[in-house]
Amino acid sequence: MIIAIDGPAGAGKSTVSKIVAQKLGFLYIDTGAMYRALTLKVLGEKVDIEDTVGIIEVAKSTVIDLVNNPDSSLRILLDGKDVSRDIRQPYISRFVSDIAKIKEVRKVMLGLQRVLGGQRDCVLDGRDIGTVVFPEADKKFYLDANLSERTRRRHKELQDSGQDTSLSDVELDIHNRDTIDSTRKIAPLKKAEDAVCIDTTKMTISEVVDKVLEEIKK
Ligand code: DC
Repeated sequence: MIIAIDGPAGAGKSTVSKIVAQKLGFLYIDTGAMYRALTLKVLGEKVDIEDTVGIIEVAKSTVIDLVNNPDSSLRILLDGKDVSRDIRQPYISRFVSDIAKIKEVRKVMLGLQRVLGGQRDCVLDGRDIGTVVFPEADKKFYLDANLSERTRRRHKELQDSGQDTSLSDVELDIHNRDTIDSTRKIAPLKKAEDAVCIDTTKMTISEVVDKVLEEIKK
C-alpha cells in the first residue's frame, strides 16, 4: 500500500507521515530529505548553483539512502555518511528549491523514490508524490496551513534543534520556496485531484494523524 502526503513547507507533513508510518508499520520516505542531501553535496563540492550540468553530474553520481530506525526516526545517508542533521540547516533550505526544479535532477530522484517505495508498504511525503511519483497511490493527502502558522512551526523546529534564526527569515524562506516549488515547470507542488485536503492550521498533530488514519481505513 502506498500513502502519498504532499503539501507546502511547514504544513506538518513529515511529523504526521512519520507517526502514521510507525502506527501502520509502514516504511517512511521523506523525499524532501533526498533533495536536501543532494543540495548539501552540491554546495559542499562548491558547484555553482547556476551550473545545471555540474549539478546533474553530482545527482547522477550520488548515493542517497534512507534508513528507518525502530524508534521511527529517519537517518539520511549521503554516500554512506549520516547527514540527517546537516540537511536541516537554513543554508540548505535556501538553495534546495533551485536544485529541485532541474528536470534531470527530478528524474534521478523519481527513479530512486520509485525503487524505495516499491519495496514494501510505505508513506511518502513531498510535493509531487500523489501527482507524479505515485499517481496510483492507494490514498493521497494534501496538508496545508496558513503562512504564519507554518512559519511558527518551522521556526520552533529550528530553535529546538539549536539553530537561531528570526521569524522573518523563516517566513521569507518558506514563501520563496513555496513560490519556486509551485511555479516550476516539472512536477510543481499542487494538490492531486483525488487527494484528501486537510487544513492543519488549527489542528494538533494527533488530530491530523487521527484524521489521516481514519481516511486510510475508509
Ligand atoms: O519537505 P522539505 O521542506 O524538506 O523539502 C525541501 C525541498 O525539496 C522543497 O522546498 C522542494 C523540494 N522537494 C521537491 O521538489 N519534491 C519533493 N517530492 C520533495 C521536496
